[in-house]
Amino acid sequence: MKILLTGGTGYIGSHTAVELIRQGYDVEILDNLFNSKITVLDDIEKITGVKPKFYKVDLLDVPAMKKVFEEGKYDAVMHFAGLKAVGESVEKPLKYYENNVGGTINLLKCMKKYGVDKIVFSSSATVYGDQGTAELTEDMQTGVGITNPYGETKHIIEEMLIDVAEAEPKFEVTILRYFNPVGAHESGLIGEDPNDIPNNLMPIIMKVSTGEIKELCVYGDDYDTPDGTGMRDYIHVVDLAKGHVAAIEKMKPGVSIYNLGTGKATSVFEMVAAFEKASGEKLAYKVVGRRAGDLPKIFANPKKAKEELGWETELTIEDAMNDTINYLKHDAERQ
Ligand code: NAD
Ligand code: UFG
Repeated sequence: MKILLTGGTGYIGSHTAVELIRQGYDVEILDNLFNSKITVLDDIEKITGVKPKFYKVDLLDVPAMKKVFEEGKYDAVMHFAGLKAVGESVEKPLKYYENNVGGTINLLKCMKKYGVDKIVFSSSATVYGDQGTAELTEDMQTGVGITNPYGETKHIIEEMLIDVAEAEPKFEVTILRYFNPVGAHESGLIGEDPNDIPNNLMPIIMKVSTGEIKELCVYGDDYDTPDGTGMRDYIHVVDLAKGHVAAIEKMKPGVSIYNLGTGKATSVFEMVAAFEKASGEKLAYKVVGRRAGDLPKIFANPKKAKEELGWETELTIEDAMNDTINYLKHDAERQ
């Protein structure tokens, strides 16, 4: 099966490319390299022995997109490409709607024109908004109480995919709602490498440890959680990547939606402690006020993915921390 990965040089896309190639899939990558580097292709080759064909193309460039599809003759698309900085999306909403929603419309039109009817979409737990409960299941109503345009784009794209699948009976859509991806490939060759200033916990911890950021600001220690800090479901990116392989193997007509998470919530202080244990170093942090829009605690109910896809997470927070530190070491050697 030949699969096009949009955003495939990015953090999650690159790990998924590795797992797909390992399972014998024919993978090609399209990315505008806005938030990733071309050298990722060499790293994928070092890990798998295969360098995927690459198109430096923007989803908004319709003629270029058509050329890719004309040449590619794909069986399926995995759609990772998108902008994901929550804070920036509040300041520049149109940029996010144009890139994420507009880009997906172009992609779906190309799929239709060139007869590609399978798509796996990178969605997010953010679509659940505030359910007033920590454990999230796929059947909950989505789209209420989303606090930023980035999250809105994920919800809108989900709705759009549902409408397209309704209109095109041959369409097979799988929506994967990721919880909080962390970690890196065990080789230390690929990992999270944002081009801009990160706003997620793990990349900030990484930059504090390398000295690029002075200290981690812990957003609140007065939540109703055991240690007072926010709790999330952190999933190792390699487990997440394997979830995509499981998903593509079980595609079916209509829309299928799965949470990809571990089913466990970990606090900010527990993440800091795990990083310190793995690195043997103290991590500088200070507690500041809560961040607007943050929920105290959320985690996935991952039962549906286990029952229908036969997939569940295998790696731990400790694995994620060790792999992150190994990735940072490799990164320092590369500089
Ligand atoms: P990433 O930024 O590392 O990868 C996204 C890739 O898409 C980048 O390489 C970027 O250059 C590319 N891209 C963006 N806009 C493009 C466009 N218009 N045309 C072509 N390429 C474009 O991000 P990631 O963490 O790997 O996330 C992948 C997907 O998963 C995104 O859709 C993201 O919203 C979603 N997601 C991520 C998280 C997370 O915490 N990392 C959580 C939930 C969902
Ligand atoms: N946190 C800090 N300090 C920081 C950054 C984060 O204390 O500098 C805390 C947050 O308050 C939260 C936890 O660490 O309790 C995780 O925060 P992230 O920003 O890493 O992740 P979020 O769960 O807030 O959001 C992320 C993505 C969203 C996605 C969501 C899915 O940013 O796009 O995961 O659950 F939708």
